[in-house]
Amino acid sequence: MARIPLMAGNWKMNLNHIEAIALVQKLAYTFNAEDFAALEIAVIPPFTDIRSVQTLVDGDKIALKYGAQDLAKADKGAFTGEISGPMLAKLGCTFVIVGHSERREYHGENDQTVNLKVQAALRNGITPIVCVGEGSEVRNAGEQVSHTLRQLDAALAGVSSKDVANLVIAYEPVWAIGTGEVATPADAQEVCGAIRDQIRNVHGSAADQARVLYGGSMKADNVAALMKEADIDGGLVGGASLDPDEFVSVCRYRMHP
Ligand code: 13P
Repeated sequence: MARIPLMAGNWKMNLNHIEAIALVQKLAYTFNAEDFAALEIAVIPPFTDIRSVQTLVDGDKIALKYGAQDLAKADKGAFTGEISGPMLAKLGCTFVIVGHSERREYHGENDQTVNLKVQAALRNGITPIVCVGEGSEVRNAGEQVSHTLRQLDAALAGVSSKDVANLVIAYEPVWAIGTGEVATPADAQEVCGAIRDQIRNVHGSAADQARVLYGGSMKADNVAALMKEADIDGGLVGGASLDPDEFVSVCRYRMHP
């Protein structure tokens, strides 16, 4: 079964809701039906923008998907400052990023937190985009595959093969995030291929369906080569997703020479 490519723009902590509306409007009139037929395209704005994005996407019937950058482990309760899966589901979120390296680094998220958040997303009908990937020290030691697979196993502990089939895994080597230093296609494929092999070992044919994205300084001028690799099904795009022309160009990688 052919996997549908996915390009998701992680806006991180950028753009207020007015700016979000402007960016989504620009994307809406630039993308055409052919783009939306060729791949899934998503924006992942800050929480405060999601309602505005929902209103625009629903009102103008835009084929753009959207999601959130994080969610709480619990579905409700006394957790000041948290946003729950049911809240995101009500806002029509298709995706939620879980375990981004910035959450792991600055908010103390460990593998167990990530696993609980994956389960929270799934029980609310939202597709987690589960982020894994090594820092530069691990890569310099040549341990990128074993490190990333350990994170993967921990994140997916207790998740059924049926759910795994619908998951998105994003391989984001930390040294490539926001640095302009993109992984070579071969380096990205090495780990993305290992992720798929590991899913196959544990969950069999779910590996044919689960999508594996690459993230880390993906841009219009490097996306096409990355997308040629067998186990890279799309991208989690940071900085380049804030510029509508650049993001559209990333999503049109198949037209690049
Ligand atoms: P950059 O594309 O800005 O390197 O960010 C990647 C990322 O972290 C996406 O989640």
